[in-house]
Amino acid sequence: MCGIVGYVGSQSALEVVMAGLKRLEYRGYDSAGVAVPADGGLAAAKKAGKLVNLEKELTERPLPTGTTGIGHTRWATHGGPTDANAHPHLDNAGRVAVVHNGIIENFAVLRAELAERGHELFSETDTEVVAHLLAEEFSVTADLAEAMRLVCRRLDGAFTLVAVHADEPDVVVGARRNSPLVVGVGEGEAFLASDVAAFIAHTRSAIELGQDQVVELRRDGVTVTGFDGSPADVRSYHVDWDASAAEKGGYDYFMLKEIAEQPKAVADTLLGRIDAAGSLTLDEVRISASELREVDKVVIVACGTAFHAGLIAKYAIEHWTRIPCEVELASEFRYRDPILDSRSLVIAISQSGETMDTLMALRHAREQGSKVLAICNTNGSTIPRESDAVLYTHAGPEVAVASTKAFLTQLVACYLVALYLGQVRGTKWGDEISAVIRDLARISGSVERVLETMEPVRELARSLAGKDTVLFLGRHVGYPVALEGALKLKELAYMHAEGFAAGELKHGPIALIEDDLPVVVVVPSPRGRSVLHDKIVSNIQEIRARGARTIVIAEEGDEAVVPYADHLVRVPVTPTLLQPLVATVPLQVFACELATARGNEVDQPRNLAKSVTVE
Ligand code: M6R
Repeated sequence: MCGIVGYVGSQSALEVVMAGLKRLEYRGYDSAGVAVPADGGLAAAKKAGKLVNLEKELTERPLPTGTTGIGHTRWATHGGPTDANAHPHLDNAGRVAVVHNGIIENFAVLRAELAERGHELFSETDTEVVAHLLAEEFSVTADLAEAMRLVCRRLDGAFTLVAVHADEPDVVVGARRNSPLVVGVGEGEAFLASDVAAFIAHTRSAIELGQDQVVELRRDGVTVTGFDGSPADVRSYHVDWDASAAEKGGYDYFMLKEIAEQPKAVADTLLGRIDAAGSLTLDEVRISASELREVDKVVIVACGTAFHAGLIAKYAIEHWTRIPCEVELASEFRYRDPILDSRSLVIAISQSGETMDTLMALRHAREQGSKVLAICNTNGSTIPRESDAVLYTHAGPEVAVASTKAFLTQLVACYLVALYLGQVRGTKWGDEISAVIRDLARISGSVERVLETMEPVRELARSLAGKDTVLFLGRHVGYPVALEGALKLKELAYMHAEGFAAGELKHGPIALIEDDLPVVVVVPSPRGRSVLHDKIVSNIQEIRARGARTIVIAEEGDEAVVPYADHLVRVPVTPTLLQPLVATVPLQVFACELATARGNEVDQPRNLAKSVTVE
């Protein structure tokens, strides 16, 4: 939930760390801080509020320069967003500084023990105990990495910790349990960060840290051990995107850039998945065909937008494979004792690969003997590492808190998995699969066309900036699209927004309709399943008769909706099952523009963080 950066090398550590924090601000933005060992001591600065407050503080009260440093951008868990609670936290002598992402569950006990031994703690955080414990252990070992290993063995919970000590000014030490931390290796320098975006401008050479590992960074090398001190095997990898992918590239917001990148993201996610004979080859799916043939139930677990992708996947999986598919919020899943066994295939969908609820759900599934397939956008993250197999989406880095291109690529990945299951189990013929793949290949162009016609949607959004509520209706795969449209509006525009299954209208929600209430309706294609289409046209008439202002998203050429649409948004002709790939895009643009019109921070909505690494 927080962003962490560490650096050791020959550049100005403050500059490297501050630039890294800027890239990680999406992870948390309620306070920030830095620490630099320099001149035989340790200099630190921290400020509540956005990073810009810390920048101002550093301009007004500059820290001494040094070539080793750590930094943190926070999303508060324990203790409000104040200067005192901001990281880094220091011991009483001011010799050790630590930053932390996660939650230390036994901090109250540790704090009481420290108080008994005469330590004074000043913040309300769980993190501060670590600085004091490190100081105690260092006074015995005179070795920060060893001190970190000893401390970590006493901590419960999820944590990434990064620390520096005044007595080892050329060393940065990190530790990881259940929270992300990656190492960047450069020429005579090394980096630690919650996300490679923080150091991508310096190196694309990265090392994945495993669970319960401690890493020691020096200019001339990186050493990784387990918490018990045993040497650890690590996986090095090359980051396949460059610094420009993590820049705004001329757009006002990352979200706008990421919406615009969707045609490419969709196309990239399809790349290399089809062999010369036209069959699907999902190399990364390391679950054998015979195991997939044994599957008698698919369970999808995810949170937020990824959960909506899962809801849509259910329609495709059940339709193409005839395997029952359940979709569940990861936070609910493991607390209800789900019925799973070795024939259940669990699909965990996550952009970040670090969402704690999803991670816990997949661990629970594996404990029950189920196979877990991750659909993920972040190479080397925890969820794919702990799954039996992974299908990576190729959206590139998604920085805006509101998920856009990750969602579309998650959908593509879900369709691919559904088709692959159909192929392996023989419920879909090769030519049927090829036909869907051809439809999928056309989506990139369709999204491009949608994006070219968004000015009226932006205009409409601006005109609705004074409204309090917007409702969203859909049927079939349009229902999760409605939920996603409502989620985008809540998180960005801070408006009351609800998504409903249009068929449920008469069972309650229609009572909400009043004069001029904006209602967005996602209309399925009139082709094929026209009964769905006819039903939703009736729903539009019902709400309009009660005064709703109807905003209708319908396929090009669908004339039946015209008389009932106060605002009509056209999307290209697309098979119903794939329609979410085009119908979601206007809703993203709508929410982004409404947020802007209401003066909200588009990329960093209030109270949110990009990846939720606490339960
Ligand atoms: O990284 P994940 O895909 O696991 O994240 C899941 C949700 O936290 C995420 O989709 C969230 O709902 C987005 N902010 C929605 O735009």
